[in-house]
Amino acid sequence: GTPARAATAMVTLTIDGYEVTVPEGTSVMRAAAEHGINIPKLCATDSLEAFGSCRLCLVQIEGRRGYPASCTTPVEAGMVVHTETPKLHDMRRNVMELYISDHPLDCLTCPANGDCELQDMAGVVGLREVRYGYKGANHLDDTKDTTNPYFTYDPAKCIVCNRCVRACEETQGTFALTIGAKGFASRVTAGQGEDFIDSECVSCGACVQACPTATLQEKSVIELGQAEHAIVTTCAYCGVGCGFKAE
Ligand code: FES
Repeated sequence: GTPARAATAMVTLTIDGYEVTVPEGTSVMRAAAEHGINIPKLCATDSLEAFGSCRLCLVQIEGRRGYPASCTTPVEAGMVVHTETPKLHDMRRNVMELYISDHPLDCLTCPANGDCELQDMAGVVGLREVRYGYKGANHLDDTKDTTNPYFTYDPAKCIVCNRCVRACEETQGTFALTIGAKGFASRVTAGQGEDFIDSECVSCGACVQACPTATLQEKSVIELGQAEHAIVTTCAYCGVGCGFKAE
């Protein structure tokens, strides 16, 4: 009989000298990951739609000008991709320098210490110095939003990766969050001058889960610290099974 759906076409390309075959439409970043090559990233996640804002995942593609973001570039047959060149290393370090120049230097006392993707990526790209100093406007932003009963928002730590906004839209179908203003002034907001508590937020926690830094923090984690281990339970009232955290 006729198959219900046409089989997805496969595409073969070369990444760092390895031949990789993936379904059409796969991003270069995912194709590389299939082969165990982890391109540095901050705004991309395994589950959210690619966004292409952090510019950490730049690669070189033979025959193409510039350095495209691998998370938003789809594979093409015969493509020859390089993910590790001295130039790419330099550019990624530069990008990280800019992030860190506008980020508080309180890692040792930050609740995300050891569980922060910004910190991880600084290590991955080999950041040694920040030539621009540490005077970014974010350092001075102490307008923390604590109005939501479940989470706090610290604009000083926000890198505007949009992951929380996308998580809200894509996993919850809610448009409770948006990015307001531009440049140094850009920050996650609940809309025109609204506090999070007045927004459409249903406190599902998707935004907090998606945050790569300590910008969005569960209040319980701030008060009690990270749970030592988590137990996944399915209670009698619900067939879904949530990630209930127990001590
Ligand atoms: Fe590709 Fe951020 S991970 S631009």
